[in-house]
Amino acid sequence: MATNPSTSRGTWNTKLGFILAAAGSAVGLGNIWRFPTETASNGGAAFLIVYLVCVLLIGLPVMIAELSIGRSSKKNPVGAFRALSNNKFFPLVGIWGVLCGVMILSFYTIIAGWTFSHVFVEIFTYTGMDGAASLLSDFGNGYVNAIFALLFMGLTITIIRGGVSDGIEKATKFMMPLLILILLIMTVFVLFQPGASEGLRVYLMPDFSMVTTDLVLAALGQAFFSLSLGMGALITYGSYLSKKENIVEAASYVTLADVGIAFLAGLLIMPTIFLAQAQGVQIYDADGSFLAGPALIFQILPQLFAQIGGILGLIIGVSFFFLLSLAALTSTISLLEVPTSYVIDEHGVSRKKAALYVGLFVLTISMVISFNTGLIDNIDYIFSVIGLPLGGLLICIFIGYFWKTQSAVDEMKNGFKDIRDSWFTALWSIFIKFICPIIIIIILAQTIFG
Ligand code: PHE
Repeated sequence: MATNPSTSRGTWNTKLGFILAAAGSAVGLGNIWRFPTETASNGGAAFLIVYLVCVLLIGLPVMIAELSIGRSSKKNPVGAFRALSNNKFFPLVGIWGVLCGVMILSFYTIIAGWTFSHVFVEIFTYTGMDGAASLLSDFGNGYVNAIFALLFMGLTITIIRGGVSDGIEKATKFMMPLLILILLIMTVFVLFQPGASEGLRVYLMPDFSMVTTDLVLAALGQAFFSLSLGMGALITYGSYLSKKENIVEAASYVTLADVGIAFLAGLLIMPTIFLAQAQGVQIYDADGSFLAGPALIFQILPQLFAQIGGILGLIIGVSFFFLLSLAALTSTISLLEVPTSYVIDEHGVSRKKAALYVGLFVLTISMVISFNTGLIDNIDYIFSVIGLPLGGLLICIFIGYFWKTQSAVDEMKNGFKDIRDSWFTALWSIFIKFICPIIIIIILAQTIFG
Protein backbone atom coordinates (compact mmCIF):
# COMPACT_ATOMS: atom_id res chain seq x y z
CA MET A 1 0.00 0.00 0.00
CA ALA A 2 1.15 3.46 1.08
CA THR A 3 3.01 4.46 -2.05
CA ASN A 4 2.21 8.15 -1.96
CA PRO A 5 5.11 9.43 0.09
CA SER A 6 3.56 12.78 0.84
CA THR A 7 0.57 11.30 2.59
CA SER A 8 1.95 8.06 3.99
CA ARG A 9 4.53 9.43 6.39
CA GLY A 10 4.15 8.12 9.89
CA THR A 11 3.92 10.24 13.03
CA TRP A 12 4.73 9.65 16.67
CA ASN A 13 1.68 8.86 18.77
CA THR A 14 2.80 10.69 21.88
CA LYS A 15 5.46 13.12 22.95
CA LEU A 16 6.85 10.60 25.41
CA GLY A 17 6.98 8.03 22.61
CA PHE A 18 9.05 10.41 20.51
CA ILE A 19 11.40 11.26 23.36
CA LEU A 20 11.95 7.60 24.19
CA ALA A 21 12.56 6.75 20.54
CA ALA A 22 15.06 9.59 20.11
CA ALA A 23 16.69 8.79 23.45
CA GLY A 24 16.77 5.16 22.31
CA SER A 25 18.65 6.21 19.21
CA ALA A 26 21.08 8.20 21.30
CA VAL A 27 21.56 5.66 24.06
CA GLY A 28 23.50 2.76 22.67
CA LEU A 29 26.85 1.05 22.65
CA GLY A 30 28.19 4.60 22.55
CA ASN A 31 26.99 5.17 26.10
CA ILE A 32 27.48 1.87 27.80
CA TRP A 33 30.62 0.73 26.06
CA ARG A 34 32.37 3.59 24.32
CA PHE A 35 31.82 6.34 26.87
CA PRO A 36 33.17 4.44 29.90
CA THR A 37 36.18 3.13 27.99
CA GLU A 38 36.97 6.56 26.50
CA THR A 39 36.66 7.99 29.99
CA ALA A 40 38.88 5.32 31.47
CA SER A 41 41.58 5.71 28.85
CA ASN A 42 41.49 9.52 28.92
CA GLY A 43 42.03 10.21 32.58
CA GLY A 44 38.55 9.73 34.00
CA ALA A 45 36.90 12.91 35.25
CA ALA A 46 38.90 15.23 32.96
CA PHE A 47 37.33 13.54 29.96
CA LEU A 48 33.90 13.57 31.58
CA ILE A 49 34.05 17.35 32.02
CA VAL A 50 35.29 18.11 28.50
CA TYR A 51 32.63 15.75 27.18
CA LEU A 52 29.86 17.57 29.06
CA VAL A 53 31.11 20.89 27.66
CA CYS A 54 31.03 19.47 24.09
CA VAL A 55 27.51 18.12 24.60
CA LEU A 56 26.21 21.42 25.90
CA LEU A 57 27.98 23.80 23.52
CA ILE A 58 27.79 21.75 20.34
CA GLY A 59 25.62 18.67 20.74
CA LEU A 60 22.46 20.33 22.02
CA PRO A 61 22.41 23.22 19.48
CA VAL A 62 23.02 20.78 16.61
CA MET A 63 20.30 18.46 17.86
CA ILE A 64 17.80 21.33 17.90
CA ALA A 65 18.99 22.22 14.39
CA GLU A 66 18.42 18.71 13.06
CA LEU A 67 14.97 18.43 14.60
CA SER A 68 13.96 21.79 13.10
CA ILE A 69 15.11 20.77 9.62
CA GLY A 70 13.25 17.47 9.92
CA ARG A 71 9.97 18.83 11.20
CA SER A 72 9.92 21.77 8.82
CA SER A 73 10.55 19.67 5.70
CA LYS A 74 8.81 16.45 6.81
CA LYS A 75 11.39 14.59 4.79
CA ASN A 76 14.33 12.23 5.00
CA PRO A 77 17.77 13.95 5.15
CA VAL A 78 18.22 14.13 1.35
CA GLY A 79 14.70 15.39 0.63
CA ALA A 80 14.90 17.79 3.56
CA PHE A 81 17.85 19.77 2.19
CA ARG A 82 16.19 19.80 -1.23
CA ALA A 83 12.89 21.03 0.20
CA LEU A 84 14.38 23.87 2.24
CA SER A 85 16.78 25.42 -0.27
CA ASN A 86 17.51 25.55 -3.99
CA ASN A 87 21.18 25.02 -3.40
CA LYS A 88 22.34 21.94 -5.30
CA PHE A 89 25.13 21.03 -2.90
CA PHE A 90 23.21 20.36 0.29
CA PRO A 91 21.24 17.30 -0.82
CA LEU A 92 24.71 15.73 -1.08
CA VAL A 93 25.07 16.35 2.65
CA GLY A 94 21.91 14.28 3.06
CA ILE A 95 23.39 11.55 0.90
CA TRP A 96 26.55 11.63 2.99
CA GLY A 97 24.34 11.20 6.07
CA VAL A 98 22.53 8.22 4.56
CA LEU A 99 25.90 6.70 3.64
CA CYS A 100 27.23 7.25 7.17
CA GLY A 101 24.10 5.55 8.50
CA VAL A 102 24.60 2.54 6.24
CA MET A 103 28.29 2.19 7.06
CA ILE A 104 27.95 2.74 10.82
CA LEU A 105 25.10 0.24 10.89
CA SER A 106 27.18 -2.32 8.98
CA PHE A 107 29.74 -2.59 11.78
CA TYR A 108 27.46 -1.63 14.66
CA THR A 109 25.35 -4.75 13.97
CA ILE A 110 28.42 -6.92 14.39
CA ILE A 111 29.33 -5.43 17.76
CA ALA A 112 25.66 -5.63 18.72
CA GLY A 113 25.79 -9.29 17.68
CA TRP A 114 28.74 -9.80 20.04
CA THR A 115 26.78 -8.34 22.94
CA PHE A 116 23.89 -10.65 22.14
CA SER A 117 26.07 -13.75 21.71
CA HIS A 118 27.58 -13.03 25.13
CA VAL A 119 24.21 -13.53 26.77
CA PHE A 120 24.64 -17.14 25.64
CA VAL A 121 28.35 -17.24 26.48
CA GLU A 122 27.43 -16.44 30.09
CA ILE A 123 24.84 -19.22 30.14
CA PHE A 124 27.16 -21.75 28.50
CA THR A 125 29.96 -20.88 30.92
CA TYR A 126 27.63 -21.36 33.88
CA THR A 127 26.37 -24.72 32.65
CA GLY A 128 29.90 -25.94 31.97
CA MET A 129 29.52 -26.00 28.19
CA ASP A 130 32.96 -24.49 27.73
CA GLY A 131 33.31 -25.55 24.11
CA ALA A 132 30.19 -23.66 23.07
CA ALA A 133 31.19 -20.68 25.20
CA SER A 134 34.60 -20.36 23.62
CA LEU A 135 33.17 -20.85 20.13
CA LEU A 136 30.80 -17.91 20.62
CA SER A 137 33.40 -15.68 22.18
CA ASP A 138 35.85 -16.13 19.31
CA PHE A 139 35.53 -12.86 17.40
CA GLY A 140 37.91 -14.22 14.78
CA ASN A 141 35.22 -16.68 13.71
CA GLY A 142 33.50 -15.01 10.74
CA TYR A 143 30.61 -17.48 10.71
CA VAL A 144 29.66 -16.78 14.31
CA ASN A 145 29.97 -13.01 13.70
CA ALA A 146 27.80 -13.31 10.59
CA ILE A 147 25.08 -15.38 12.26
CA PHE A 148 24.65 -12.97 15.16
CA ALA A 149 24.79 -9.93 12.90
CA LEU A 150 22.07 -11.56 10.82
CA LEU A 151 19.94 -12.18 13.90
CA PHE A 152 20.34 -8.62 15.05
CA MET A 153 19.60 -7.15 11.65
CA GLY A 154 16.55 -9.41 11.36
CA LEU A 155 15.16 -7.95 14.59
CA THR A 156 15.90 -4.41 13.43
CA ILE A 157 14.26 -4.92 10.04
CA THR A 158 11.16 -6.40 11.69
CA ILE A 159 10.72 -3.36 13.91
CA ILE A 160 11.29 -0.86 11.09
CA ARG A 161 8.78 -2.66 8.90
CA GLY A 162 6.21 -2.08 11.64
CA GLY A 163 6.34 1.65 10.95
CA VAL A 164 6.96 4.74 13.04
CA SER A 165 4.34 4.47 15.78
CA ASP A 166 3.58 0.73 15.64
CA GLY A 167 7.17 -0.35 15.13
CA ILE A 168 9.76 2.09 16.42
CA GLU A 169 7.68 3.85 19.06
CA LYS A 170 6.13 0.69 20.53
CA ALA A 171 9.43 -1.17 20.66
CA THR A 172 11.44 1.64 22.24
CA LYS A 173 8.68 2.52 24.71
CA PHE A 174 9.04 -0.97 26.08
CA MET A 175 12.80 -1.34 25.82
CA MET A 176 14.00 1.98 27.25
CA PRO A 177 12.43 1.69 30.72
CA LEU A 178 13.70 -1.89 30.94
CA LEU A 179 17.18 -0.73 30.00
CA ILE A 180 17.16 2.00 32.64
CA LEU A 181 15.93 -0.43 35.27
CA ILE A 182 18.64 -3.02 34.58
CA LEU A 183 21.31 -0.34 34.49
CA LEU A 184 20.19 1.12 37.81
CA ILE A 185 20.06 -2.23 39.58
CA MET A 186 23.49 -3.22 38.30
CA THR A 187 25.04 0.12 39.21
CA VAL A 188 23.70 0.03 42.75
CA PHE A 189 24.97 -3.53 43.12
CA VAL A 190 28.47 -2.64 41.95
CA LEU A 191 28.69 0.52 44.03
CA PHE A 192 28.07 -1.49 47.18
CA GLN A 193 30.93 -3.89 46.51
CA PRO A 194 33.97 -3.36 48.71
CA GLY A 195 36.71 -1.77 46.58
CA ALA A 196 34.40 0.13 44.25
CA SER A 197 35.65 3.46 45.58
CA GLU A 198 38.99 3.36 43.72
CA GLY A 199 37.13 3.32 40.40
CA LEU A 200 34.83 6.08 41.58
CA ARG A 201 37.79 8.23 42.51
CA VAL A 202 39.35 7.93 39.05
CA TYR A 203 35.96 8.60 37.46
CA LEU A 204 35.01 11.63 39.51
CA MET A 205 38.24 13.37 40.58
CA PRO A 206 39.50 15.39 37.63
CA ASP A 207 43.19 15.48 36.74
CA PHE A 208 43.36 18.42 34.35
CA SER A 209 46.92 17.67 33.33
CA MET A 210 45.30 14.93 31.22
CA VAL A 211 43.50 17.43 28.97
CA THR A 212 45.23 17.30 25.57
CA THR A 213 44.04 18.00 22.03
CA ASP A 214 43.57 14.26 21.60
CA LEU A 215 41.26 14.21 24.57
CA VAL A 216 39.19 17.09 23.19
CA LEU A 217 38.95 15.33 19.80
CA ALA A 218 37.82 12.15 21.46
CA ALA A 219 35.23 14.03 23.52
CA LEU A 220 33.71 15.83 20.53
CA GLY A 221 33.62 12.66 18.42
CA GLN A 222 31.99 10.85 21.31
CA ALA A 223 29.39 13.63 21.69
CA PHE A 224 28.34 13.37 18.02
CA PHE A 225 28.29 9.59 18.06
CA SER A 226 26.47 9.28 21.33
CA LEU A 227 23.81 11.89 20.55
CA SER A 228 23.30 10.32 17.08
CA LEU A 229 24.11 13.65 15.41
CA GLY A 230 25.56 14.58 12.05
CA MET A 231 23.96 11.97 9.82
CA GLY A 232 20.33 13.00 9.85
CA ALA A 233 18.94 10.47 12.33
CA LEU A 234 17.27 13.34 14.16
CA ILE A 235 16.23 15.02 10.91
CA THR A 236 14.38 11.79 10.17
CA TYR A 237 12.92 11.39 13.66
CA GLY A 238 12.01 15.10 13.66
CA SER A 239 10.14 14.65 10.40
CA TYR A 240 7.59 12.47 12.21
CA LEU A 241 7.09 15.01 14.99
CA SER A 242 3.87 16.98 15.39
CA LYS A 243 3.85 20.79 15.18
CA LYS A 244 2.38 20.84 18.69
CA GLU A 245 5.60 19.69 20.31
CA ASN A 246 8.32 21.90 21.66
CA ILE A 247 11.53 20.94 19.84
CA VAL A 248 13.85 22.75 22.24
CA GLU A 249 12.33 21.03 25.23
CA ALA A 250 12.33 17.62 23.52
CA ALA A 251 15.99 18.00 22.50
CA SER A 252 16.88 18.93 26.08
CA TYR A 253 15.20 15.81 27.44
CA VAL A 254 16.89 13.58 24.89
CA THR A 255 20.30 15.11 25.65
CA LEU A 256 19.71 14.77 29.36
CA ALA A 257 18.70 11.12 28.99
CA ASP A 258 21.76 10.39 26.88
CA VAL A 259 24.20 12.10 29.20
CA GLY A 260 22.48 10.69 32.28
CA ILE A 261 22.70 7.14 31.02
CA ALA A 262 26.32 7.55 29.92
CA PHE A 263 27.15 8.93 33.37
CA LEU A 264 25.37 6.02 35.02
CA ALA A 265 27.18 3.55 32.78
CA GLY A 266 30.45 5.15 33.93
CA LEU A 267 29.37 4.63 37.55
CA LEU A 268 28.87 0.97 36.68
CA ILE A 269 31.89 0.29 34.51
CA MET A 270 34.68 2.31 36.17
CA PRO A 271 34.31 0.69 39.60
CA THR A 272 33.80 -2.69 37.91
CA ILE A 273 37.16 -2.40 36.18
CA PHE A 274 38.90 -1.76 39.47
CA LEU A 275 36.95 -4.53 41.19
CA ALA A 276 38.17 -6.83 38.47
CA GLN A 277 41.73 -5.66 38.98
CA ALA A 278 41.48 -6.26 42.71
CA GLN A 279 40.45 -9.82 41.86
CA GLY A 280 43.63 -10.27 39.84
CA VAL A 281 42.19 -9.61 36.37
CA GLN A 282 44.63 -7.94 33.97
CA ILE A 283 43.31 -4.48 33.06
CA TYR A 284 46.40 -2.99 31.43
CA ASP A 285 48.13 -3.95 28.20
CA ALA A 286 51.75 -5.05 28.08
CA ASP A 287 52.71 -1.44 27.19
CA GLY A 288 50.89 -0.12 30.24
CA SER A 289 47.92 1.32 28.36
CA PHE A 290 44.43 0.62 29.41
CA LEU A 291 42.68 -2.41 27.87
CA ALA A 292 39.87 -0.54 26.16
CA GLY A 293 37.48 -1.51 23.37
CA PRO A 294 36.27 -5.08 23.01
CA ALA A 295 38.78 -6.41 25.55
CA LEU A 296 37.23 -4.40 28.35
CA ILE A 297 33.66 -5.43 27.79
CA PHE A 298 34.12 -8.95 26.50
CA GLN A 299 37.15 -10.13 28.53
CA ILE A 300 37.53 -8.17 31.74
CA LEU A 301 33.89 -8.03 32.73
CA PRO A 302 33.10 -11.72 32.09
CA GLN A 303 36.10 -12.64 34.25
CA LEU A 304 34.60 -10.59 37.02
CA PHE A 305 31.20 -12.22 36.55
CA ALA A 306 32.88 -15.63 36.71
CA GLN A 307 34.63 -14.67 39.93
CA ILE A 308 31.37 -13.57 41.52
CA GLY A 309 30.34 -17.07 40.54
CA GLY A 310 27.22 -19.12 41.11
CA ILE A 311 23.74 -18.06 40.13
CA LEU A 312 24.46 -14.44 41.13
CA GLY A 313 27.37 -14.23 38.70
CA LEU A 314 25.16 -15.71 36.00
CA ILE A 315 22.32 -13.27 36.61
CA ILE A 316 24.66 -10.29 36.58
CA GLY A 317 26.46 -11.47 33.46
CA VAL A 318 23.29 -12.22 31.53
CA SER A 319 21.65 -8.94 32.61
CA PHE A 320 24.69 -6.95 31.58
CA PHE A 321 24.88 -8.32 28.05
CA PHE A 322 21.12 -8.19 27.67
CA LEU A 323 21.28 -4.53 28.69
CA LEU A 324 23.91 -3.87 26.03
CA SER A 325 21.84 -5.69 23.41
CA LEU A 326 18.76 -3.62 24.23
CA ALA A 327 20.71 -0.38 24.04
CA ALA A 328 22.21 -1.44 20.73
CA LEU A 329 18.84 -2.41 19.26
CA THR A 330 17.20 0.94 19.96
CA SER A 331 20.14 2.52 18.09
CA THR A 332 20.26 0.12 15.12
CA ILE A 333 16.57 0.94 14.65
CA SER A 334 17.40 4.60 14.03
CA LEU A 335 20.42 3.77 11.91
CA LEU A 336 18.24 1.67 9.60
CA GLU A 337 15.37 4.16 9.63
CA VAL A 338 17.49 6.88 7.99
CA PRO A 339 18.28 5.03 4.71
CA THR A 340 14.84 3.39 4.79
CA SER A 341 13.02 6.73 4.98
CA TYR A 342 15.23 7.96 2.14
CA VAL A 343 14.20 5.05 -0.07
CA ILE A 344 10.52 5.45 0.90
CA ASP A 345 10.41 9.22 0.24
CA GLU A 346 12.69 9.54 -2.73
CA HIS A 347 11.95 6.33 -4.58
CA GLY A 348 8.31 5.78 -3.67
CA VAL A 349 8.93 2.27 -2.31
CA SER A 350 6.63 0.94 0.43
CA ARG A 351 8.04 0.86 3.98
CA LYS A 352 7.95 -2.92 4.23
CA LYS A 353 9.94 -3.38 1.05
CA ALA A 354 12.29 -0.47 1.68
CA ALA A 355 13.23 -1.74 5.16
CA LEU A 356 13.88 -5.22 3.81
CA TYR A 357 15.97 -4.13 0.81
CA VAL A 358 18.03 -1.61 2.73
CA GLY A 359 18.49 -4.05 5.62
CA LEU A 360 19.70 -6.78 3.27
CA PHE A 361 22.03 -4.34 1.54
CA VAL A 362 23.61 -3.31 4.83
CA LEU A 363 23.79 -6.96 5.86
CA THR A 364 25.86 -7.75 2.77
CA ILE A 365 28.46 -5.25 3.93
CA SER A 366 28.22 -6.69 7.45
CA MET A 367 28.99 -10.14 6.06
CA VAL A 368 32.25 -8.88 4.58
CA ILE A 369 33.13 -7.20 7.89
CA SER A 370 32.23 -10.37 9.82
CA PHE A 371 35.17 -12.11 8.19
CA ASN A 372 37.45 -9.04 8.35
CA THR A 373 36.77 -7.44 11.71
CA GLY A 374 39.96 -5.38 11.34
CA LEU A 375 37.89 -3.16 9.01
CA ILE A 376 35.74 -1.94 11.91
CA ASP A 377 38.28 0.60 13.14
CA ASN A 378 38.76 2.08 9.66
CA ILE A 379 35.05 2.35 8.91
CA ASP A 380 34.43 3.81 12.36
CA TYR A 381 37.18 6.39 11.79
CA ILE A 382 35.90 7.54 8.37
CA PHE A 383 32.16 7.48 8.98
CA SER A 384 31.82 8.28 12.66
CA VAL A 385 34.96 10.00 13.95
CA ILE A 386 35.27 12.20 10.82
CA GLY A 387 31.91 11.67 9.13
CA LEU A 388 29.55 12.74 11.90
CA PRO A 389 31.27 16.00 12.94
CA LEU A 390 31.66 16.82 9.22
CA GLY A 391 27.92 16.27 8.73
CA GLY A 392 27.24 18.40 11.81
CA LEU A 393 29.43 21.18 10.44
CA LEU A 394 27.59 21.20 7.11
CA ILE A 395 24.22 21.21 8.87
CA CYS A 396 25.31 24.30 10.85
CA ILE A 397 26.48 26.02 7.65
CA PHE A 398 23.23 25.12 5.91
CA ILE A 399 21.10 26.64 8.64
CA GLY A 400 23.36 29.58 9.35
CA TYR A 401 23.92 30.73 5.78
CA PHE A 402 21.37 29.12 3.45
CA TRP A 403 18.11 28.19 5.14
CA LYS A 404 18.83 30.91 7.78
CA THR A 405 18.55 30.63 11.52
CA GLN A 406 15.39 32.75 11.41
CA SER A 407 13.56 30.04 9.44
CA ALA A 408 14.63 27.46 11.99
CA VAL A 409 13.46 29.72 14.82
CA ASP A 410 10.12 30.11 13.03
CA GLU A 411 9.86 26.34 12.94
CA MET A 412 10.69 26.08 16.63
CA LYS A 413 7.94 28.56 17.34
CA ASN A 414 5.42 25.82 16.69
CA GLY A 415 5.02 24.34 20.14
CA PHE A 416 7.13 27.06 21.78
CA LYS A 417 5.26 30.35 21.51
CA ASP A 418 7.52 32.50 23.70
CA ILE A 419 10.65 31.67 21.81
CA ARG A 420 10.81 34.94 19.85
CA ASP A 421 11.33 37.08 22.89
CA SER A 422 13.70 34.72 24.54
CA TRP A 423 17.45 35.14 24.93
CA PHE A 424 17.62 31.59 23.72
CA THR A 425 17.00 32.46 20.06
CA ALA A 426 19.87 34.90 19.83
CA LEU A 427 22.22 32.58 21.63
CA TRP A 428 21.28 29.54 19.57
CA SER A 429 21.73 31.48 16.33
CA ILE A 430 25.23 32.63 17.34
CA PHE A 431 26.14 29.07 18.20
CA ILE A 432 24.90 27.65 14.90
CA LYS A 433 26.43 30.40 12.75
CA PHE A 434 29.79 30.85 14.44
CA ILE A 435 30.68 28.92 17.55
CA CYS A 436 29.76 25.36 16.52
CA PRO A 437 31.26 25.56 13.00
CA ILE A 438 34.50 27.13 14.22
CA ILE A 439 35.01 24.60 16.99
CA ILE A 440 34.17 21.69 14.69
CA ILE A 441 36.53 22.96 11.96
CA ILE A 442 39.41 23.34 14.41
CA ILE A 443 38.85 19.91 15.87
CA LEU A 444 38.37 18.21 12.48
CA ALA A 445 41.53 19.85 11.13
CA GLN A 446 43.41 18.58 14.15
CA THR A 447 42.03 15.09 13.63
CA ILE A 448 42.88 14.95 9.97
CA PHE A 449 46.19 16.83 9.86
CA GLY A 450 47.27 16.65 13.48
N1 PHE B 1 24.04 7.05 19.40
C1 PHE B 1 24.29 5.67 19.17
C2 PHE B 1 25.12 5.13 20.32
O1 PHE B 1 25.46 5.84 21.21
C3 PHE B 1 24.96 5.40 17.85
C4 PHE B 1 24.33 6.12 16.70
C5 PHE B 1 25.08 7.02 15.95
C6 PHE B 1 23.00 5.91 16.36
C7 PHE B 1 24.51 7.74 14.92
C8 PHE B 1 22.40 6.60 15.33
C9 PHE B 1 23.16 7.52 14.62
O2 PHE B 1 25.46 4.00 20.34
